[in-house]
Amino acid sequence: MNVLVVGSGAREHALAWAFARSPVVDVVITAPGNPGVARHVGPCMDLERAIENLDTFDLVVIGPEAPLVDGLSDDLRAAGARVFGPSSAAARLEGSKVWMKAVLAAAGVPTARHAAFDHSREDEALAFLETLPGLYVVKTNGLAGGKGVVVTESLADAREVVRAYLSGDAFGDAGRTIVIEEGLTGPELSLLVLCDGTLEGMPLAPAQDFKRIGDGDTGPNTGGMGAFSPVPMAGPAVVEEAMERAVAPTLAELKRRGIEYRGVLYAGLMLTPDGPKVIEYNVRFGDPECEVVIPRLASDLAIHCSEVATGRLRTPVQFRADACVTVVLASEGYPASPRTGDVIEGIDEAEALDDVVVFHAGTRLDDERVVTAGGRVLAVTALGADVASTRARAYEAVEKISWPGMQYRTDIAAVA
Ligand code: AMP
Ligand code: GLY
Repeated sequence: MNVLVVGSGAREHALAWAFARSPVVDVVITAPGNPGVARHVGPCMDLERAIENLDTFDLVVIGPEAPLVDGLSDDLRAAGARVFGPSSAAARLEGSKVWMKAVLAAAGVPTARHAAFDHSREDEALAFLETLPGLYVVKTNGLAGGKGVVVTESLADAREVVRAYLSGDAFGDAGRTIVIEEGLTGPELSLLVLCDGTLEGMPLAPAQDFKRIGDGDTGPNTGGMGAFSPVPMAGPAVVEEAMERAVAPTLAELKRRGIEYRGVLYAGLMLTPDGPKVIEYNVRFGDPECEVVIPRLASDLAIHCSEVATGRLRTPVQFRADACVTVVLASEGYPASPRTGDVIEGIDEAEALDDVVVFHAGTRLDDERVVTAGGRVLAVTALGADVASTRARAYEAVEKISWPGMQYRTDIAAVA
């Protein structure tokens, strides 16, 4: 089969890399892709050109949230394509936190106590903050690349954030409606679930993501600075409980609203003393979670994705016992204002290590040289027998790579 992967980041690189290894896949095209995909997997092209040739693809897999929210999967399905990726109606789970919270409430899914406010209700928003017990969470309603969430113990800081968001100063229209919620505590878990439009989802192996920019979970939130899988604390009982209490009721509530979910549903969970609670839903593979979950997949990603796209998920997913660890290398200034255009050295040396692959997140070619082109630049990924040795190899690979101002966390997977 011929597969089109839509997107340009490390997540799409990891997906295209896995498709290229499948015996049932003939050609993988990534649109627009990146220099890493071009090198490891093969041809990249403009999305417009790929869509002009839509009938040459047997499967289209849409990576990022923005085109899903904007309805790309609806358009491509209407044009006759088999698409892995939810409709824009279903993608509202990620596109609008207010709507997502309403779905959770209707479905009876445990989540943080919260309220939503638009820019005309700043006084009420500030008053609601005062009612919370002490860890304050303020979120943009709309998409903000993982950066629109502030968690703080300081009421004064939380009040400032509320003002900056509602005024439009911080995130434009995405922030002019906000969700304020109580802070939950406990370990976080990313559970990715394949969904074919029927009620039963099929969970993939859980992963843990590191959201803050700094070691020890300090500094601002990012799209994710690294991840690992498997997660020792997330055994089958935890996955089963999350499926029963969160994912199944959510899918049922969507169905009740006439919305069929076909793609991967990402449940961001916090394992609180009262059981798992949903922090967020995303409507796509997590990035960087995808880079550690997909390399561990022993069954065929292309088969799973086409079954999702055709609405008949039946081949069971299987995972290797191996561990996978990815460390994200980011540009100077990320997440606030990343500097780009720096020449990256050492990718080949890193990849010369056994079972190391460097997925490209934000790179471009400048006269044959790979240069930085975004905030998150590379996801340096290692696969191995256990988390400790794999983590050591991932960092050994990281040490080979450099550019001016490169930053990364040194504690990815250290908890495991
Ligand atoms: P979100 O984009 O909603 O996943 O939020 C990004 C990150 O902010 C999460 O992964 C958590 O680390 C943190 N966060 C979000 N909501 C809460 C909450 N209610 N309590 C504690 N931390 C939270
Ligand atoms: N790693 C978090 C996300 O993909 O949203």
